Amino acid sequence: MKPSIPAADAEPQPQSQATEKPWGGRFEQATDRFVEAFTASVAFDRRLYAQDIAGSIAHATMLAEAGILGAAEQQQIVAGLTAIRAEIDAGHFTWSVAREDVHMNIESALIARIGEVGKKLHTARSRNDQVATDLRLYLRDTVDVLDRQLLRLLGALLDFAEREADTAMPGFTHLQPAQPITLGHHVLAWFEMLLRDRARFADCRKRVNVLPLGAAALAGTTFPIRRERVAELLGFAAVAENSLDAVSDRDFAIEFASCAALTMIHLSRIAEELVLWSSQQFRFIELPDAFCTGSSIMPQKKNPDVPELVRGKSGRVTGHLMGLLMLMKSQPLAYNKDNQEDKEPLFDTADTVHDCLRAFADLIPAIEPRREHLLQAAAQGFTTATDFADYLVRRGVPFRDAHAIVGQAVRTAIAKGCDLAQLSLTELGGGHAPVTEEIYELLTVEGALLARDHLGATAPAQVRAAIVRGRKRLSSR
Ligand code: ARG
Repeated sequence: MKPSIPAADAEPQPQSQATEKPWGGRFEQATDRFVEAFTASVAFDRRLYAQDIAGSIAHATMLAEAGILGAAEQQQIVAGLTAIRAEIDAGHFTWSVAREDVHMNIESALIARIGEVGKKLHTARSRNDQVATDLRLYLRDTVDVLDRQLLRLLGALLDFAEREADTAMPGFTHLQPAQPITLGHHVLAWFEMLLRDRARFADCRKRVNVLPLGAAALAGTTFPIRRERVAELLGFAAVAENSLDAVSDRDFAIEFASCAALTMIHLSRIAEELVLWSSQQFRFIELPDAFCTGSSIMPQKKNPDVPELVRGKSGRVTGHLMGLLMLMKSQPLAYNKDNQEDKEPLFDTADTVHDCLRAFADLIPAIEPRREHLLQAAAQGFTTATDFADYLVRRGVPFRDAHAIVGQAVRTAIAKGCDLAQLSLTELGGGHAPVTEEIYELLTVEGALLARDHLGATAPAQVRAAIVRGRKRLSSR
């Protein structure tokens, strides 16, 4: 998970003097080498460099506008930070564990590059409000990236549903054949799950998009800063109201992880169905070879690795949510070093959800349904029994009585080893219910599909109408 930065005991580094640290003034002893490595976060938080630099540029710009920095000083700082960003982009920047984290690595590099004036950047801020700002910028970007992947997948689901609007399949409850549905209708259920995820992420983004900078360490700063201006420069919609809360709050991160976990739970349910459906027992769909792997011992195997992995990865993302909740539990206000532990789970969450959405967005269009087999399966297991009962109700039989009559007919069919439609009218009606020839039409899969013809139901016409609405809902936020 971590990029390879040598730990202090893996590759001996010169012991840094505490006085070399930005905070070294009050220390007599050098930092223990293990402690230095133990407390450092640069191995993972270097990933925040673009956000850290953007935040610093906005901060320096505001400081100059407020007369706290000179205009020339601000320009040198911005030029220095811009050059450092280019160096990091190009992979030429040397990260140092002795400089602890992304913030101090960049600040030290700035001072090395532009000299004394670089030491003024940290005026009126703290790493506490700095890291909270970086993290919010990062999650805001991440939500936007995930939204694009979600959109791709949602679009693929609508296309898939459209292709399969007429394809019959068995619908299940308790994984037992229940009633015929269309494959398009089933796929639209996945669409609904993920469309809610999209809305949840968008809602979470509102609470991510609030500026903590200006809280400084915890109490605010003695300088006449203009926080609204920094918010404007960084595109934040609001400024955090309370400085203590601003540096200690990680609710937005937990919300993000929660949206991500629920998205993964949804993907795991889709994954599970793909695994079942592609099995030799179901044979509902064929997964593309390009998304499967073979067995090193069993030559006949074609394994649904991609859905299986997505299903498996839902565990770690859910685990990260639990980890973040526990990280915050009982923490006293305001900032505590514990919070450094928020980053790895968040980064892994973002990467995992991104890759899983991408995998499914690529996989879905390549799935081949076995339509003949699906149709056969849709008819098995007396899946039109409810239609029979509904028919009796329309002919005046109370539903509970109808249920019992049909149950009898199913028993007769099981005993004879045949389907409901193969029973005589007398057998169907148990000798007394008002059953006529038209029942045979209603007992077909097609009849059952056509009969469920209202908003939200499975009839092909309803599926098509839902797809049209779905496309509108996708384009309107
Ligand atoms: N690396 C720290 C983190 O990730 C940055 C903030 C450090 N603040 C402090 N007061 N030590 O949380």
